[in-house]
Order: sequence, then C-alpha cells, then structure tokens
Amino acid sequence: MRIAVCPGSFDPITKGHLDIITRASKLFDKVIVLVVINAAKQFSFTQEERTELIRQVIGDSLPNVEIDSYDGLLANYVKEKGAVAIVKGLRAVTDFEYEFQMALANKKLNPEADTVFLTTAHENMYLSSSLVKQIAHFGGDISSFLPPQIVEPVTARLCKKD
Ligand code: PNS
Repeated sequence: MRIAVCPGSFDPITKGHLDIITRASKLFDKVIVLVVINAAKQFSFTQEERTELIRQVIGDSLPNVEIDSYDGLLANYVKEKGAVAIVKGLRAVTDFEYEFQMALANKKLNPEADTVFLTTAHENMYLSSSLVKQIAHFGGDISSFLPPQIVEPVTARLCKKD
C-alpha cells in the first residue's frame, strides 16, 4: 500500500487543490488530505471548518482519499502513517524556493518519505486561497475558483458586511 499525504492550509480548498488531490489519487494507493498549521499564516476558517469544507467537496467521490487534520510536524505525521510521499502542487517559479526548502527540511526530518511535486493545471496557475478570499471580501464572484459545493458557505463567511 503506497500512501501519500497531501498537506496544506486549505483556507479554503480551491479547484486548484482539488485537481492536485484528484491526480495524486491516481498515482498512489491511498491519499490523505491533511489540514495542518502554517505558523506563518492567519486563517479565515478554523482547522475544523477547513477540514469540513474538504469533506463537503470530496464526499465519497474519491474512494482512496481520506481527510484528516493534525497540529504537529508534518514529517512526524507522515512517519506515523508510513507514507512514502508528500504531494504538493507547484504553480510557478515563485512557489519553488519555499516548497524546495520545506521538501528538504521534511526529508531531513523523515528520510523515508519524498516530496513529489505535481505541476498545476494551466487554468489554475494564478489561483490561490488568499486571492479567493480577497475577491470574496470585496463582494466579487468566486464561483469559478471553488468547487461548487462550498461556494455558498465560503461567500457567506468572507463577504464584507458593512
Ligand atoms: O498550503 P500551505 O500553507 O502552503 O502549506 C504549508 C504547510 C501547511 C504544508 C506547512 O506549513 C506545514 O507542513 N505545516 C505543518 C507544520 C510543519 O511540519 N512545519 C515544518 C514544514 S518543513
């Protein structure tokens, strides 16, 4: 059983994340989508809410995908699960330095697992959770950026109320 962990902040999950998760599910026997803490970020949704939004999106549609959340070091979680890979999406050169640094640190902390980068689909190259949040905050239409199941709750939460 080759297990991969697909970690992220998912604040909230976007179509870009979903594309990476779906493609990872075809490459590995089991994929765990893991909502973890990024100490450098301020979140709009709690860890529980972000996990729940992912559950709403994925449901039973990808049978070999599980959803989980974790408060500690990613490398420890990956070790506990016996996973062989950490899967991340790469949008552009601007992602590279940050992702490369994390991949090297995770390899040092857990030499048993490798980070695998999937190039984002070209239509999602510009897409990020923070962009979606900014657009929603100012009342813009975010329906083309998010899986349809979560457009309404995410819009309701993020739309600026004056
Ligand atoms: O979606 P993001 O915010 O770019 O993902 C970054 C994330 C959450 C995967 C990273 O911050 C992380 O792995 N956090 C868990 C804590 C940890 O292990 N930090 C050290 C990473 S080398």
